[in-house]
Amino acid sequence: MPEATHGLSADIDRLRTEAIEKLAALTTASNAAEWEKHYLGGKGAVTALLRGLGKLPADERPAAGRATQALRDELTGAFAPVKDRLDAEALQQELAGDAIDVTLPGRVPAIGAAHPIAQMTDEVIEIFALMGFQAVFGPEVETGRYNFDLLNIPSDHPARDVWDTIIVDTPNEEIVLRTHTSPMQARTMEKIEPPVRVIVPGKTFRYEAQDASHEWQFTQLEGLAVDKHITMADLKGVLQELARQLFGPERKVRFRCDFFPFVEPGVDFSVDCSVCNGKGCRVCKYTGWLEMGGAGMVHPNVLRGVGYDPDVYSGFAFGLGIERLIMMKYGVDDIRAFASNDIRFLRRFASVTI
Ligand code: FA5
Repeated sequence: MPEATHGLSADIDRLRTEAIEKLAALTTASNAAEWEKHYLGGKGAVTALLRGLGKLPADERPAAGRATQALRDELTGAFAPVKDRLDAEALQQELAGDAIDVTLPGRVPAIGAAHPIAQMTDEVIEIFALMGFQAVFGPEVETGRYNFDLLNIPSDHPARDVWDTIIVDTPNEEIVLRTHTSPMQARTMEKIEPPVRVIVPGKTFRYEAQDASHEWQFTQLEGLAVDKHITMADLKGVLQELARQLFGPERKVRFRCDFFPFVEPGVDFSVDCSVCNGKGCRVCKYTGWLEMGGAGMVHPNVLRGVGYDPDVYSGFAFGLGIERLIMMKYGVDDIRAFASNDIRFLRRFASVTI
């Protein structure tokens, strides 16, 4: 055998041994692709051998060409089943990864619920509807005239300071975030003639430091009834009924003197603690009573201010905090929880879905 052909034959043997050895060690489809590129690709080892044939003497080229082509065919033949096997394995793995386990339990979609403030507001609206009160809603940005003046609190009255007002603007007159829902008293009476029987739920705002029982933004419920012959007994009956409906049929209501410029006489009213039945506990701070809000008989100046004759008509009004009602009913000990967006707190009230 001529020297050059002998050298090529040795190269072919070496390449065969190496390629077959590596082929046997392949474990993945991507390794197989690399192997194919390295040995059989356009720039691969066998092609390099074929290109080298040109350097051989012309009479040796045909035999050398056949030998190299035979190597290519042998390697191609050996590679095909390995590639098929590894491709099939890769496909199996991919299918197994994407498989759906139909026995897994489904994911329960999170269903929203009305916020506890909205739930309590709806509850009290319903209780008052059964007593003939209509719910009306008023502006959260108010004028000083409705928030104070028409409620018998003129601008030089010291009681005006009590309300820790957030003032929005003072162009010609004071514009404030309403400090209570009481401005709707005059707004309602200006529009309609007695008899009046309304409640006003809504947001209220005060420039106040936050603590466990005070928020700068909270929710009030105003009540107003005006007609001939309305007395304190009517006020007490209505609030007593509210307390019974909310906290149970045994509940009692207590009035104590208090001062609000827009009522005379004025009271604060409490309900006996439903947790300890009035004996005293942590929830009622060992007093046996839970304060619900302020109330009283509508001041003659307020009636006069909206054109009602106080010698003909009388009325009662009350205002209470919705958050405080929820705190009493469900033993919530920090008012800041309502605006905290803590899902664990909100879930406690998630029985009502929307
Ligand atoms: C008033 O706002 C009067 N407008 C109530 C009223 C209406 C009296 C009609 C007479 C006639 P007061 O400031 O006390 O009153 O607030 C009433 C209720 O709102 C309180 O009892 C309390 O439940 C709630 N409240 C007051 N301030 C806050 C606050 N910073 N955070 C949470 N709740 C509050």
